[in-house]
Amino acid sequence: SNNILLDRFQRRINYLRLSVTDRCDFRCVYCMAEDMNFLPRSEVLSLEELYEVAKVFSTLGVSKIRLTGGEPLVRRDVLKLIEKLGQLPDLKQLALTTNGSQLQRMAAPLQQAGVTSINISLDSLQPARFKSLTRTGELKQVLAGIESAIKAGFKRIKLNAVMLKGRNADEALDLLRYARSLAIDIAFIEEMPLGQIVEHDRALSLCSSDELQQIINQEFPLSPEGEPGGSSGPARYYRMGKHPTRVGFISPHSNNFCHLCNRVRLTASGRLLLCLGNEHSVDLREVLRRPDYHSSMLKEAIIKAMQIKPLQHHFNEPEATEIVRFMNMTGG
Ligand code: GTP
Ligand code: 5AD
Ligand code: SF4
Repeated sequence: SNNILLDRFQRRINYLRLSVTDRCDFRCVYCMAEDMNFLPRSEVLSLEELYEVAKVFSTLGVSKIRLTGGEPLVRRDVLKLIEKLGQLPDLKQLALTTNGSQLQRMAAPLQQAGVTSINISLDSLQPARFKSLTRTGELKQVLAGIESAIKAGFKRIKLNAVMLKGRNADEALDLLRYARSLAIDIAFIEEMPLGQIVEHDRALSLCSSDELQQIINQEFPLSPEGEPGGSSGPARYYRMGKHPTRVGFISPHSNNFCHLCNRVRLTASGRLLLCLGNEHSVDLREVLRRPDYHSSMLKEAIIKAMQIKPLQHHFNEPEATEIVRFMNMTGG
């Protein structure tokens, strides 16, 4: 059919992750270098360009868009973009991944604009640790942001915790109890080798989902939710009896979901990345800025790009080379 995106492996692409800025008010140690250089404004897509890309993807059968960054909520006027996205008739899910720093102010307007679910990064409940992991973040502000999101009434809220040995891995149960106390979801994430970071040795810090699952199981027996891979997402979800909180594990090292992958991502500079762990990409900014631009050109470029979507990432291979691109350029 005309409005379906299929790649070479017959995977249906119906999910776009849209990075609206590479900037962030935090400097998480696994995501960025301490002295990051950000893109000059001219290289970043305008809000109009971002909307155009989203619109064309939605005509191609994409029914879920997730806004990412950097930190999406530090982009000026991002709410105006979100309000327009919220009105795209064929979008079923408009999701947001945020560090939570702006949520006290933004949660209610985001909900009104049509954001359906929010993922909030939270790696520690200890103020000093939180500061050392984010370099610039304030725990109190993020916790207040989480409460604002709950009050605003989103359908789904998920915490994301990147677990690192020697830093926060001993907090898994505390984080889980916190999520349970609020009846929201939580995902534990194995760090991915994106960007060259210096603060820790990624091999030594790796905290495997299997280890965590064993620890959690002793206090809260976990049972798999739904069919395996049912979500076409990277996380495997579990339930604790009848408790509403779902517990997810995102395990690029021990478990990949690539054969079910349903997503592509756009960087803030308009590069359509076909896979988080590979460099295969197509420059959509060049298309958008052609003097004779017409949306049919973008449509054609997107359909063609599907042909170079790689089968899988190689994070789980011991000899895997590090990807030079930092996570903030990628949006996760
Ligand atoms: P859904 O996409 O709605 O299922 O949520 P999510 O949990 O995938 O998204 P979120 O932005 O909260 O990201 C959580 C973690 O999943 C981050 O560490 C992302 O880098 C990682 N992630 C997202 N997409 C992919 C992917 O395609 N492959 C891998 N390996 N990890 C991914
Ligand atoms: N590996 C895994 N997850 C990461 N994130 C940022 N950098 C990395 C990394 N190197 C996570 C953030 C956020 C999500 C978008 O990606 O914690 O929750
Ligand atoms: Fe910012 Fe998120 Fe990267 Fe942390 S992980 S520096 S909050 S973009």
